Amino acid sequence: MELFKVLEERRSVRKYKEDPVPGEKLMKLLEAARISPSWSNLQCWRFIVVSDPEIKKKLASSMPDNNPAKKAVGERAPLVLVLCADPTESGDQDNKDYYLLDAGLAMQQLMLAAHEEGLGTCWVAWFDEKTAREACKVPEQYRIVALSPLGYPEKQPSTRPRKSMDDIVFSEKWGNPIKF
Ligand SMILES: Cc1cc2nc3c(=O)[nH]c(=O)nc-3n(C[C@H](O)[C@H](O)[C@H](O)COP(=O)(O)O)c2cc1C
Repeated sequence: MELFKVLEERRSVRKYKEDPVPGEKLMKLLEAARISPSWSNLQCWRFIVVSDPEIKKKLASSMPDNNPAKKAVGERAPLVLVLCADPTESGDQDNKDYYLLDAGLAMQQLMLAAHEEGLGTCWVAWFDEKTAREACKVPEQYRIVALSPLGYPEKQPSTRPRKSMDDIVFSEKWGNPIKF
């Protein structure tokens, strides 16, 4: 699929079919994450692939009941990815912790590759880290940056609105509108 089509079509998927994710597809997605850019090429990310229903339930219990992705993590998706990162394996500048960016970029590459393979994902950041840590026995040295369900979407979710170009892009200096 053409890259821009993937970018346009990707959605946060919260309803999944029961069909399993083929191993070779899963490895392709993880490869997309593995080759992502990072601070000093330190590659602080680690991924845990969860298929065990009990662990998925524990991960879902780390999410508030009104998190719209809770059922996707606990029941609907055949797999859940746990995105971990070691802050000491990245850098910081002016109080900006780049491990979050490193891990986020790797996950986004994975998510775009997933869409190309017909699979759905959803960023989940609204969860209690301690509970998720216990569920997957993640060492204290690593932060859990996000979770994502992974599987075949039940349907393509509708498009969420985005800000206009004028709201987010300036020319030369802050606030100057850009002319195309
Ligand atoms: C950092 C981050 C955290 C998010 N956390 C959650 C979450 O906890 N639960 C959820 O259902 N969606 C979560 N989302 C998904 C957003 O709600 C979604 O990306 C946004 O509404 C735009 O929709 P789209 O991804 O379908 O384009 C998160 C997205 C990002 C980038």
